[in-house]
Amino acid sequence: MNKGIAIYPGSFDPPTNGHLDLIQRGSKIFEELVVAILRNSEKSPMFSVAERLEMLRALTTDLNNVRIDTFNGLMVEYAKSIDAVCILRGIRAISDYEYELQMALMNRKLEPTLETVFMMPADKYSYVSSRLVREVAQAGGPVKGLVPEVVEQKLREKLEPAYKFHDANTLEVPAGEKRDEKRTSNKKKSNKKRKKKA
Ligand code: PNS
Repeated sequence: MNKGIAIYPGSFDPPTNGHLDLIQRGSKIFEELVVAILRNSEKSPMFSVAERLEMLRALTTDLNNVRIDTFNGLMVEYAKSIDAVCILRGIRAISDYEYELQMALMNRKLEPTLETVFMMPADKYSYVSSRLVREVAQAGGPVKGLVPEVVEQKLREKLEPAYKFHDANTLEVPAGEKRDEKRTSNKKKSNKKRKKKA
């Protein structure tokens, strides 16, 4: 296996178990794996770059050949600046392929010496994405098993006091929300009564 520095670039907003799975797999193949967080993303992120850096560092303390960094601008320029020979990207399903192929070919056009290597995360994470994790968490749903515990804790901190997770299945809805729920069900009852009368 070719030894050298590989770069695993992404947004990691937030890091998921799928990302971590890929980092672990990549760390076994490459001499050094640099997980690189894009700083100048157009998207408005849920977590700041500093928070993502902190989470990823906490998640990879036991992986001696993994380093976490951030980059701005063109990824291939950053990759060259750290002497990376390879770009690592994860592919979960066929739906990822088109975008990844386009990106890999564009990166090859920009820097022909850099190869892109695709790896598959464990199939149990094949449906996990940062976007869906954010969506589920923001709506008060459980994300246990989808993200590492460190990330679950950070999501909890970020989204409180709106919602409090206790375990994978129970969710404590804040008092205000309960009152609203009651109001809604009372409203439904009086609507039913009104309909009956009519
Ligand atoms: O996790 P993501 O959001 O799918 O990662 C996308 C990322 C950060 C790898 C990609 O957008 C990127 O490399 N951006 C840096 C700018 C760049 O080099 N663009 C040309 C890539 S074709």
